[in-house]
Amino acid sequence: MSPLRNDRFLRACRREKTDTTPVWFLRQAGRYMPEYQALRRSHRLLEICRTPALAAEVTLQPIERLDVDAAILFADILLPLEPLGVGLEFAQGDGPQIERPVRAAADVDRLRDFDVATDLGYVGESVERIVRELAGRVPLIGFAGAPFTVASYVIEGGSAKGFVRTKRFMYEEPEAWARLMSRLARLTLDYLRMQVTAGADAVQLFDSWVGNLSPADYRRFVMPHSRAVLEPLAALGVPVIHFGTQTGGILGDMRSAGATVVGIDWRVDLRAAWDSLGQDVAVQGNLDPVTLLAPWASVSEATREILRSVAGRPGHVFNVGHGILPETPVEVVADVVRLVREESGARRGRGRAAER
Ligand code: CP3
Repeated sequence: MSPLRNDRFLRACRREKTDTTPVWFLRQAGRYMPEYQALRRSHRLLEICRTPALAAEVTLQPIERLDVDAAILFADILLPLEPLGVGLEFAQGDGPQIERPVRAAADVDRLRDFDVATDLGYVGESVERIVRELAGRVPLIGFAGAPFTVASYVIEGGSAKGFVRTKRFMYEEPEAWARLMSRLARLTLDYLRMQVTAGADAVQLFDSWVGNLSPADYRRFVMPHSRAVLEPLAALGVPVIHFGTQTGGILGDMRSAGATVVGIDWRVDLRAAWDSLGQDVAVQGNLDPVTLLAPWASVSEATREILRSVAGRPGHVFNVGHGILPETPVEVVADVVRLVREESGARRGRGRAAER
């Protein structure tokens, strides 16, 4: 394996000093990029995910185009649903569709047991190929969906608002819920371990929709299962980013579930969130992705404000608070990368001058 030439991202995850603040973007590969759209005209989403050469090509598109400090594996949090046997399709424009959702306790026991290396081995192959093609330019982030967010798709049958079905299942069938969550936790841990073995330098656990729960429900119904994924991974020594949206009320719990980096969305003040989490954890965030559609004066002010608020404290990874929207201009994203580098580099320079 080639030695990493740019390790800013990994250093920041470990809360070490860096020359500039590392930056990457949630959904940095995808529909806002003409290169991705071109590939999508001839291949379906799942086909790209299942073909290591295509997954590698898409993963590298933002590395070539944006000069970001980390790559993220091109895959989807719902890939494990296929071998689980619930049926997965991405319908044109409608998002994911699960053919046989879990609606009753007995459905949980009908889920297929599967071996990650056999049934999701193509993701390990993608990781190996991406690491080879990156050739040490930047680190690679692997990822998976967290048990709650994946369970919500399994139960709702697709994207949902309010998560009424998921929560009712949780309240009405607590034992079946615990069995479902333990199953998902076990397979997610195996899946992420496979990615790390294949060469991923860090992993991110997406619990995108967990902010819909009360803090008490999070602690009772979700936290033990997230911990079962996060703690063994952190013990391997890789940075483990734990991300969700609308999580202002549960950030402390998400952190104590075993995260070494906490993803923060834009609905909370980054500095205040970090102060309340404590300085012995790194943070990632938290530009509102809609800002990237605004005039440059607003984009640059919002970017500077985030950098100002954390004042160069080691352990900040700049990112958006949720995925880049399809209508985002690519040049604006590239300009944000340049601005983060200039501003954070200059800020470190001023800090050093003040020390002298
Ligand atoms: O750079 C990257 O981040 C790309 C890799 C990636 C994808 N999905 C590819 C994808 C990642 C990290 C994901 C994570 C993911 N997938 C999440 C968690 C992140 C988040 O946004 O909260 C979730 C909830 C999913 C499930 C999912 N996949 C939905 C709901 C949809 C349809 C809605 C949508 O955004 O289109 C997808 C499809 C999907 N996954 C696309 C991409 C690039 C859309 C592009 C396409 O259809 O070609």
